Amino acid sequence: MVNEFEIKKKICEIGKRIYVQGMDASNDGNISVKLNDNEFLCTPTGVSKGFMTPEYICKVDRDGKVIQANPGFKPSSEIKMHMRVYKERPDVTAVVHAHPMYATAFAIAGIPLTQPIMPEAVIALGCVPIAEYGTPSTEEIPDAVSKYLQSFDAVLLENHGALSFSDSLLSAYHKMESVEFYAKLLYLSRQLGGPKELSEAQVQRLYEIRRQFGMKGKHPADLCPNVQAGKPSCHGCGGNCNHGADKDMVAEITRRVLEQLGK
Ligand code: 13P
Repeated sequence: MVNEFEIKKKICEIGKRIYVQGMDASNDGNISVKLNDNEFLCTPTGVSKGFMTPEYICKVDRDGKVIQANPGFKPSSEIKMHMRVYKERPDVTAVVHAHPMYATAFAIAGIPLTQPIMPEAVIALGCVPIAEYGTPSTEEIPDAVSKYLQSFDAVLLENHGALSFSDSLLSAYHKMESVEFYAKLLYLSRQLGGPKELSEAQVQRLYEIRRQFGMKGKHPADLCPNVQAGKPSCHGCGGNCNHGADKDMVAEITRRVLEQLGK
């Protein structure tokens, strides 16, 4: 039997950590947790996630409609985005949305996190794609995110922030931390003359370790058609090689060939 009050306290604790670490400014970000197939707890809209107490937390159904909310509190304006993740990823029980500074800077610059630069990021995340821009609170963001849900546990949201999800609240939060740490290292190493990337063989060994550990969740290494075909991994593919979209792949190959030719 889940103790809802304990889960509400955990949501407040995670909100505070996200806020204190500067991954959300002001009233930014939102968090949700799945209780069962038709009950979800979520942070309210328009409050600082660093100063919440359990009575702030709202309960919604699978359509994001309010089941319970204390006076003065309404569910997050981004509840549709959370619900889409739960709908399309039955293994997910917690979703975290934040605006971490470095990850969001990459999302604003339109640069996905694809360079294999450190073992932990390769094992935990693989690469992190960017879901195309959508207006907050509309179906545009859920629609953009949907494309990536079967291959990743974290995505950047173009000109907006980042989204992570997992089979526990702590794990979803850790993925957000990992995304931000990866983005920060990538940014800093670029200032130092550019990162020395891990080799293809090193990346493959890390993917193998992930498989041996039986790590849960979705990871591009598990689905990348290149890896399945024994070819080089998806790193450098823009986080988009594994969606069966042949035209995307052809466009990407064409772009890279033209780039090499200096066109
Ligand atoms: P809410 O306060 O409505 O959850 O929205 C915050 C946010 O970050 C929107 O992207």
